[in-house]
Amino acid sequence: MRIVLLGPPGAGKGTQAVLLAQTYGIQHISTGDILRETVKHGTDLGRQAESYMTKGELVPDALVIGIVAERLADQDCANGFVLDGFPRTEAQARALDAVLKERGGKLDAVINFGLDDAEIVRRLSRRRVCEGCGAVYSAPADLATSGDACGRCGRTLITRADDEPEAIRRRLCVYRAETEPLIAYYCRSGILTHVGGVGSVDEVFCSVRAKLAEM
Ligand code: AP5
Repeated sequence: MRIVLLGPPGAGKGTQAVLLAQTYGIQHISTGDILRETVKHGTDLGRQAESYMTKGELVPDALVIGIVAERLADQDCANGFVLDGFPRTEAQARALDAVLKERGGKLDAVINFGLDDAEIVRRLSRRRVCEGCGAVYSAPADLATSGDACGRCGRTLITRADDEPEAIRRRLCVYRAETEPLIAYYCRSGILTHVGGVGSVDEVFCSVRAKLAEM
């Protein structure tokens, strides 16, 4: 199964992508996570990417398309993947179609998560991520037992630089201008389905599975 997750920042794409990957035995490919890794390693690409990411701007298409095309060529993607955070522009969507076509494949589903801005801001300002393994938590509920340490690897939980209020506002503007138009792009191809992001993680995942079963 080849799935794309669309939706504004904080709509729950990453959270649902983890569950989809586990349930369907497919690879979770998060361009945000890949880019944050390159930043951590201090590579040239990482330094270039960081300047955009901290401000809530998109990293240029040419850089991101190359990263994804390379990752999709890996053998472990042959059984399918869930793309979380890619594509984000029409140029990226067209490049993805071309890469898949070249390999004789195509997308099976695009799931668009909806969530209002107030709830997005609330969730992102509470998000904590593990500086080691990248696991995502929601404060204070998820931290009741583990405090500021990751329940999986024990490393420290931090707030992402782009979860500061100004960067959240910028990410929402960039989403509306660059990524939201992809809803119309995928609507035309007949593989788009909508899922409301409100409700518990399990409730949202039930809706996701129901929509995929219908398609
Ligand atoms: P990226 O990391 O992809 O950020 P994003 O798309 O803004 O999405 P988020 O990770 O903020 O949110 P999410 O929807 O995954 O929500 P989550 O599940 O974490 O990208 C970061 C940056 O990298 C971009 O700004 C850009 O600079 C660059 N970049 C990445 N891809 C790019 C591309 N293709 N092109 C160019 N640049 C690119 O949930 C959020 C919080 O809510 C968590 O705390 C979670 O625990 C909680 N939560 C989740 N579900 C629920 C629920 N049902 N109820 C209550 N809480 C919930």
